[in-house]
Amino acid sequence: MASFFTHQLCRSFSSTALRSVAIKHVVIIGGGQMGAGIAQVAAATGHQVTLVDTSDSILQKAVKGMESSLKRVVKKKFADKPEAGEEFIQKVLKNVSTSTDAAAAAQHTDLVLEAIVENLQIKQDLFGTLDKAAPEHTIFASNTSSLPITDIASTTTRLDRFGGLHFFNPVPMMKLVEVIGTSATSQETFDSLLNFGKALGKTTVSCKDTPGFIVNRLLVPYMLEAIRLHERGHGSKEDIDIAMKLGAGYPMGPFELLDYVGLDTCKFIMDGWSQMDPDNPLFAKSQLLNKLVAEGKFGKKTGEGFYKYK
Ligand code: CAA
Ligand code: NAD
Repeated sequence: MASFFTHQLCRSFSSTALRSVAIKHVVIIGGGQMGAGIAQVAAATGHQVTLVDTSDSILQKAVKGMESSLKRVVKKKFADKPEAGEEFIQKVLKNVSTSTDAAAAAQHTDLVLEAIVENLQIKQDLFGTLDKAAPEHTIFASNTSSLPITDIASTTTRLDRFGGLHFFNPVPMMKLVEVIGTSATSQETFDSLLNFGKALGKTTVSCKDTPGFIVNRLLVPYMLEAIRLHERGHGSKEDIDIAMKLGAGYPMGPFELLDYVGLDTCKFIMDGWSQMDPDNPLFAKSQLLNKLVAEGKFGKKTGEGFYKYK
């Protein structure tokens, strides 16, 4: 752990910084809640997007989700002009194509942004394959919540063209993108990623490649401590949620947010961190979280987590 941190803090950009690449076309791998949200925002800001997942039915669901999210956006943006709103939705959706062949999609793009399951081996395998298919200039980025970008990039030969772009859920509403550079990321690549985040209308912050970057390093231990507090019998989940909303001004309580993020994703994050730093009490595993995930209760996306959803 210590060497991981030290390594990252020693990161320095190449002194022969080149011009950043303008990203016009993006391939997004993973059409779940994050990938679909990023695809929507990229398409709405005039980028050409190819969304990739493992089956056509998942991709159809993703496009349907984008359409309903866009309807919510235009309801406010085009309140007085519903026809212009419908036109906008159609224009945005025209910028999105779908594919189940990641390698083929990566052959003609400026950026490959991965938003698949939070598993290092699966992400490494994916990027190792795509490295052989994508053109020289293509930048690779991961939307990982918790895994070291350096490790994800290790199966590729483009370490200088690899970084992190960490979006927040729900992507159309959350204004932040964390941009992560590793010790090998070139200044040109980092600038391209920063500019892409800005072109999507987001505010960007620069992060080191350390566990959880900025937001999740603070947010995930907070959510897990809420579960432990409940496990100790010190508060019902309903009361804890009310307390944090009304007492701290958070838009969602920790249990609502855990369900919203996905309990599977939260467990993957914590398992990875506790493996990396087993003595850190902030990363201690939760039996209740493990039980819910073992039962397939992943939160809002599966209809049940800490709460039930229609
Ligand atoms: N798409 C488009 N518009 C949306 C939307 C979506 N997916 N979700 C909400 N909205 C907009 C709509 O305009 C909606 O109005 P309508 O219902 O009339 O369409 C409006 O927001 C209000 O939404 P809600 O009434 O459903 O609820 P809300 O006022 O609580 O807002 C919220 C929803 C923006 C999600 C808010 O609850 C919130 O900010 N929650 C916290 C989210 C958060 O912390 N995210 C970070 C998670 S951590 C992470 O992402 C990193 C990681 O790696 C795990
Ligand atoms: P999700 O479960 O909603 O979606 C993941 C999608 O990836 C699924 O549709 C799955 O079919 C697809 N997939 C899995 N393996 C694939 C492969 N090899 N090729 C193509 N598609 C594949 O997950 P999510 O919540 O969208 O999270 C995706 C990533 O984003 C994770 O790394 C997660 O940690 C990160 N993230 C999640 C959140 C959040 O709040 N949920 C926020 C920021 C970042």
